Amino acid sequence: EKGGFPHFMLKEIYEQPRTIIDCIRGRINPEGTDVILSGVRDHQDKFLKAGRIIIVACGTSWHAGLIGEHLIEELCRIPVEVEYASEFRYRNPVIRPNDIVITLSQSGETADTLAAVELARNSGAFIYGICNVIGSSIARATDSGSYIHVGPEIGVASTKAFTGQVTVLIMLALSVAKLKKSISPELYTTMLHDLQQIPQLMERVLKLDTEICDLAKIFTYAHNFIYLGRGYNYPVALEGALKLKEISYIHAEGYPAAEMKHGPIALIDSEMPVVAIATADSVYEKTISNIQEIKARRGKVIAIVTEGNEDVRKMVDYVIEIPRVDERLIPLVVSLPLQMLAYHIAVNKNRDVDRPRNLAKSVTVE
Ligand code: F6R
Repeated sequence: EKGGFPHFMLKEIYEQPRTIIDCIRGRINPEGTDVILSGVRDHQDKFLKAGRIIIVACGTSWHAGLIGEHLIEELCRIPVEVEYASEFRYRNPVIRPNDIVITLSQSGETADTLAAVELARNSGAFIYGICNVIGSSIARATDSGSYIHVGPEIGVASTKAFTGQVTVLIMLALSVAKLKKSISPELYTTMLHDLQQIPQLMERVLKLDTEICDLAKIFTYAHNFIYLGRGYNYPVALEGALKLKEISYIHAEGYPAAEMKHGPIALIDSEMPVVAIATADSVYEKTISNIQEIKARRGKVIAIVTEGNEDVRKMVDYVIEIPRVDERLIPLVVSLPLQMLAYHIAVNKNRDVDRPRNLAKSVTVE
């Protein structure tokens, strides 16, 4: 049932090129020039008059939500807030009738997320669910939504569900932006083209496995890790750190790279591995100065860059190269090496990768 893989997690990491195809199937026209989610098409008026979008989720799904915030604000020009379901539900939040609440949940059974959805329903907001498990409680409690269609996720650490959630959020942002005419036709075409290249690019990234396995050997005994990213890669840094801590039990923190100088940089010395995402995007130059700040304090930097980048190589200790893709889609590609790094470190430490201690696949307690 693990399809020849030693763990479900590795199988699910390797399934991603296929699960992205399943996720976009039927949502992009055969010519590859248009995308529409039926849940958006059937409720166009709600999206057109939305005053605000509130995204509620937990854990990895919350990280996907942060990427959704960036996508929706940039492309649709609708203000977005991202909330931990467990905080939102106990805060007596302001929810207006023309707000849309988007909820993300792989299992569709997370107790806090379900309670947040019920609270939002009672306030009269339109609720859009992005779930994996068909017919799950959260899927049933929403007004509309989209399944991510990535198939059962068995490993407790979420991998293919995360990239599926991000893919649906990209399609949702594109669908709404087109309706609102808030995206240029050029950007719409580029993003849609690049989205269809993602499975192929993921195949290429999976070939880095041996290289990442070797890198993992060097860092297996590290006690701490810092993950840095900016812009679209900031939530990816949070997710990279979460993957590492939950399956290897190594303490890891994700930070927006520029926040380091406001405190956490005090942690940096030659014993501190720092994974820095410095891909070709609008904040590349800024990220480079943050990497220099880390190197000046002798931190060990593993940089993830866009292929062909020689400048960062001169500056840091290790480099992982990923293929070039539109900035807004980089999270889909860059997440894979981070999943693989966490996986190999956890395997080296003999951890129970698919069933990490203290965790459950569906968190049905508050
Ligand atoms: C981390 C992980 C958890 C879940 C969280 C929400 O790898 O799996 O952080 O993302 O418990 O679960 P769902 O998405 O099922 O609501």
